[in-house]
Amino acid sequence: MASTEVLDVRPIDAALSEAVWPLSVEAGWNQNLADWRFMLGAGRGFGCVGPDGRWHASSLVLPLGQKLAWISMVLVTKDRRRGGVGTGLLKRCIEEVRSAGAVAGLDATEQGRPIYLPLGFHDLYPIARWHFDAARDTVAPPAGVIVRPIGPADLPRLALYDRPLAAMERPAILAHLALRQPGRAWVAEDAAGKIVGFVLGREGRTATSLGPVVADSEAIALALIMRAATAAPGPFIIDVPTAHRAVRAWLEGQGAVSPRGYMRMTLGDAKGLDDATHVFALAGPELG
Ligand SMILES: CC(C)(COP(=O)(O)OP(=O)(O)OC[C@H]1O[C@@H](n2cnc3c(N)ncnc32)[C@H](O)[C@@H]1OP(=O)(O)O)[C@@H](O)C(=O)NCCC(=O)NCCS
Repeated sequence: MASTEVLDVRPIDAALSEAVWPLSVEAGWNQNLADWRFMLGAGRGFGCVGPDGRWHASSLVLPLGQKLAWISMVLVTKDRRRGGVGTGLLKRCIEEVRSAGAVAGLDATEQGRPIYLPLGFHDLYPIARWHFDAARDTVAPPAGVIVRPIGPADLPRLALYDRPLAAMERPAILAHLALRQPGRAWVAEDAAGKIVGFVLGREGRTATSLGPVVADSEAIALALIMRAATAAPGPFIIDVPTAHRAVRAWLEGQGAVSPRGYMRMTLGDAKGLDDATHVFALAGPELG
């Protein structure tokens, strides 16, 4: 098997977004160029170029505060798989995270998990990826809670609300998503104006992605998901920790299907990251 020593691992910067995008398209993933540009600008990319000059593999480390970094976009083009490239890139990403003194986290696909387990990653909780076309049923927020669009002035409070519940520090990601496209960013507030939940989203290559959804309760989360799904064009994808049964039941009621799932994993311990009580949807496996 190849190793980092023999693999020619090269940095991927945001200017190379268009050149690496075909890797996620080949895998059938939803990221568009705006996603790649944002992720490569906010994080550090590493990959391999083939003899034909094209990118054959990618990986990415996205800092989520000083103590946690997300590894994502681990992609190897089909005819280069099972040769150790994925493992080599993973090792390069792990070095990067360790040298920053952080813990590595990721959301593993079924294909990715076999390479993460031998590297020491352990499971935190399973997540289901759901696809649905439209919100058929309306869900009113609980009494006393209002849902309204997020504006730029809300962003500092949103980041403060998110941090302890998501166990991640991601103000730049929240700001990027909130400001990227109107109609996908909604906040729930109680009668005193305190934030009790929010949903963000983004347009994608094949579907509108809903998430993250962080909320005080499942009832608030459902009202937020419904609001975003009514205001933005479908079809939709959303990644929901499997523990949230009411969200699952509502999605099934909308005709949603779940063709695959992920496992949230870490290498080392990240305080609070194993607790999905208030995390009703991921920002996406690539963003945490
Ligand atoms: C997952 C992926 C990156 C692996 O890349 P790779 O270069 O093939 O991985 P490696 O060659 O380093 O595999 C290392 C080991 O993992 C295991 N492994 C890899 N792919 C596997 C598979 N499909 N089924 C079972 N085990 C697998 C094997 O033990 C393999 O060692 P071996 O080939 O000596 O038996 C690649 O399959 C891919 O791009 N898949 C689609 C995108 C994806 O799911 N990415 C993961 C995101 S979390």
